Amino acid sequence: VSFRFPRVVGHRGASADAPENTLAAFRLAAEQGAGAIELDAKLSADGIPVVIHDDMLERTTNGHGAVRAQDLAGLVRLDAGAWFDRRFAGEPVPTLEATLKLCIELGLELNIEIKPCPGRAAETAEKVVADVRRCWPAGRPAPLLSCFKAEGLAAAQAAAPDLPRGFLVDDLAGDWAGTAKRLGCTTLNVDHRALDRSGVATIAAAGLVPVAWTVNDPARAAALVGWGVAAIITDRPGVIRAALP
Ligand code: G3P
Ligand code: MG
Repeated sequence: VSFRFPRVVGHRGASADAPENTLAAFRLAAEQGAGAIELDAKLSADGIPVVIHDDMLERTTNGHGAVRAQDLAGLVRLDAGAWFDRRFAGEPVPTLEATLKLCIELGLELNIEIKPCPGRAAETAEKVVADVRRCWPAGRPAPLLSCFKAEGLAAAQAAAPDLPRGFLVDDLAGDWAGTAKRLGCTTLNVDHRALDRSGVATIAAAGLVPVAWTVNDPARAAALVGWGVAAIITDRPGVIRAALP
């Protein structure tokens, strides 16, 4: 499969050292030598893609309640940094658009995880695609769109058959090969704890590029790459990069 993606991908940015899914974390990932970042995209109440992991605001912001209940204007006023460290107070919840622009500026590639709030998978995928279409230069390697939900990937495929897709799975128990094939996926993004040498070989034999998340141990990352994993999604891009050839 001809698909080139940076080997070290900052999971929600350099999220061991900066508040996850903020522009500060993405900048730090670039400084630490990540070639790409992974982020989680979901929609505000008024349908704008924003970058945040949980359905609820409490863990990573000073807001309350569901992300999907807040308009963009309310979301961007929240503090998404102070919970991590006072140094990051005032970091906002970024829009996907602002994140795409930062990646262009820094020369970072990206893996946009479509992380829909309940019931919004297709709409989230469509709005993510619209942002990519509007902001991402044609000459650059296209963002990888990934999702745990087939519905999100199917909507991405319909809206943008040309953008590469990754099917996210927790393990290799189900019919991942059939689903990934049906959805025209390029990569299979697997919880690394479910991978061993033969699992990685099986993924490659199915014509998919193996990607592993979330790998924070350098020896484990080196083993996975040795087995043929193409990209390591990590909270510690600097440490993992130093450990890989
Ligand atoms: O995209 C890989 C990984 O981010 C998937 O799980 O929960 O960290 O978004 P999660
Ligand atoms: Mg994610």
